[in-house]
Amino acid sequence: MAAMMELVDLERSFKVGRAVVRAVDGVSLAINAGEVVCLVGESGCGKTTTGKMAVGLLRPTGGEVRFEGQDIWQMNAADFRKYRQAVQIIHQDPYSSLNPTQSVVDILSAPLLRHGFAHSRLEARQMSADCLRRVDMTPPEDYLDKYPHQLSGGQRQRVSVARALTVNPRFIMADEAVSMLDVSIRVSLLKMLGRFRDELGMTYLFITHDLAVAKFFAWDGRIAVMYLGRVVEIGPTPRLINYPQHPYTKALLSAIPEADPHATRTKERVQLRSMDVPSLLHVPSGCSFHPRCPLFEPGLCDQQVPGLADIGDRVQVACHVVARGARTV
Ligand SMILES: Nc1ncnc2c1ncn2[C@@H]1O[C@H](COP(=O)(O)OP(=O)(O)OP(=O)(O)O)[C@@H](O)[C@H]1O
Ligand code: SF4
Ligand SMILES: [Mg+2]
Repeated sequence: MAAMMELVDLERSFKVGRAVVRAVDGVSLAINAGEVVCLVGESGCGKTTTGKMAVGLLRPTGGEVRFEGQDIWQMNAADFRKYRQAVQIIHQDPYSSLNPTQSVVDILSAPLLRHGFAHSRLEARQMSADCLRRVDMTPPEDYLDKYPHQLSGGQRQRVSVARALTVNPRFIMADEAVSMLDVSIRVSLLKMLGRFRDELGMTYLFITHDLAVAKFFAWDGRIAVMYLGRVVEIGPTPRLINYPQHPYTKALLSAIPEADPHATRTKERVQLRSMDVPSLLHVPSGCSFHPRCPLFEPGLCDQQVPGLADIGDRVQVACHVVARGARTV
């Protein structure tokens, strides 16, 4: 069966002055229905740009986005509308994504009325109340007539989630959706989003710079690690966390400070050759990680771009040395 969402050799460049920045440089990723895939990596590695292309907010400069087998940019207007309804977004900042002049019921009613799920304001109000119950804002009457500034950060993000759910999506792209919340609120929101997978069969592309969040949310899913516009490792979460293969994944993991209840082996400390993240305006030749990589092999790593290679157990790694299986860090 075809994956629900397929990113095929996806590219996006931006003109910055006279230069061209390749923010996303050949990302391929297939997400099956009901699956959670987390995209992780340092700031500026292209996570948001990839997510925006997946949900049709940004047009790729190369490659394809396929939803249920169809290239979204080849769809007719009716199919594109259905796709944009099936695919919803939860943003990082509920302050800026919720209109401060609209009450909660107005915010939730708008998509219900626009997409024909509700046929009157009264019906939209009742359906909005149901949406609030789904995100544990009960009794809904306490919230329907409030404005965003009258809610806490966690409540505002729940309203954002409720708004995404109004149109019965099947796929959610959440971009740093819990980054601005306190830790305790973060956990309850992540648990709620996880529940939708079981209850509604929701599929997620979950973007975070925080591997600890990815580990928590996608323990039975997969993590894709991005570096300078490319995926360098992807695999089932427990496998990637406990047996990271790419030197960059190892470096990211060794930087997580907290105790890890899931860890089955002692974490390695990885010494990078350089702490500087190269600019996208001057991406290093060959493997773009080579100036920082402890396994760097001159003549190979600085000359040839490593492709994602299958190394078994549903793990793919873009590293000459790991793929060769000759050495481990
Ligand atoms: N509209 C744009 N114009 C020019 N450059 C852009 C644009 N959007 C993104 N970029 C650049 O593309 C690169 C990737 O940006 P992106 O926002 O996708 O990264 P990110 O991984 O989401 O980072 P963060 O963790 O900080 O959110 C960055 O260097 C960014 O400056
Ligand atoms: S290809 Fe070379 S430089 Fe790149 S991660 Fe592998 S060993 Fe390091
Ligand atoms: Mg981002």
